[in-house]
Amino acid sequence: MKSTALFAGLSLAATALSTAIPLPVRSNTRPIRLLHTAPKPHASHQFQGARILAQGAQTEEESTLGGAAVSTTDSNQKVTSVSAAFVIPHAGMPTSGPTANNTAGMYAASFHIGIDSFSAGCDGNRFLRAGVDIFWDGTIGGEQNPWVWYQSSPADEDGLGFSGFSAAAGDLVRFSVSGTEVKVENFGANVTCIKGLKPKQSVTQTVDGAGLCGGEAAWAVEDFPLAGLPNFPVALADFGGVVFKEVEVSFEGGSTGAASGNAEGAEVRDVRLAAQGGRLTACEVVEGGKKVKCDRVVEE
Ligand SMILES: *[C@@H]1O[C@H](CO)[C@@H](O)[C@H](O)[C@H]1NC(C)=O
Ligand SMILES: *[C@@H]1O[C@H](CO)[C@@H](O)[C@H](O)[C@H]1NC(C)=O
Repeated sequence: MKSTALFAGLSLAATALSTAIPLPVRSNTRPIRLLHTAPKPHASHQFQGARILAQGAQTEEESTLGGAAVSTTDSNQKVTSVSAAFVIPHAGMPTSGPTANNTAGMYAASFHIGIDSFSAGCDGNRFLRAGVDIFWDGTIGGEQNPWVWYQSSPADEDGLGFSGFSAAAGDLVRFSVSGTEVKVENFGANVTCIKGLKPKQSVTQTVDGAGLCGGEAAWAVEDFPLAGLPNFPVALADFGGVVFKEVEVSFEGGSTGAASGNAEGAEVRDVRLAAQGGRLTACEVVEGGKKVKCDRVVEE
């Protein structure tokens, strides 16, 4: 596709567009999907055996991935499961930064949790993760239905959907990922506390965790490319913020006494893309590791 074609039909918003953000012209193929590219090594940590060491402050390096990852504390220890609950954010059009106010634009964001899914530290970049993608497309009325998925690399080059499961923005969902299964539960809208509640929907998918290192557990926000347009991340939607709560991680082997069982001490990273305005998330671990919070920002 010629790059000029990427801008076709965008005359309305053309003045607001950065030259650096090509926007897709999509056919009538529905639904919209993201391309769940594998995590990449990042300069802010070193991989030492099964241990990833955060090196103080976050770097300014470009990253399509933000959030938090907790590492095993000794090389004999393995992450066996990770879970968290969060309200699926609404996708909107950003109103600041180079991608702002493109009323004919396409925006998306992805929220996922997983094992070995943050630092590309496992042999063969093996990882297992599951999450939700949200979309906003100005050409078809704005906010679209979220898509709930899981992905076991390298078997699944892209995410796979769960059959018989649906969720909407505003629903509280809980993901649990272990080496043998991925479970997702939907508690519905306007729910703030899960305790004692039965999910409205629940689905469990058996997965093959062979070859996972169990070196880290992660709670992440990511700006993936659109399926069919692999060369650049889609403009990140305005999602307000996401809070991963009831954050839990289990370990086996090693000195398990050292592990907190949540995101305490995690390495924190932000989505940072110069073409979209710089730092696009403000992520932090809060409440002693019980929550991982990422706000959508646009900061130089
Ligand atoms: C986008 O539109 C909003 C609402 O009209 C406005 O407040 C904001 O300044 C605009 N942003 C840019 C970058 O033009
Ligand atoms: C959630 O709360 C909002 C605001 O009170 C209300 O409009 C909406 O109908 C509620 N949704 C459900 C599914 O109860």
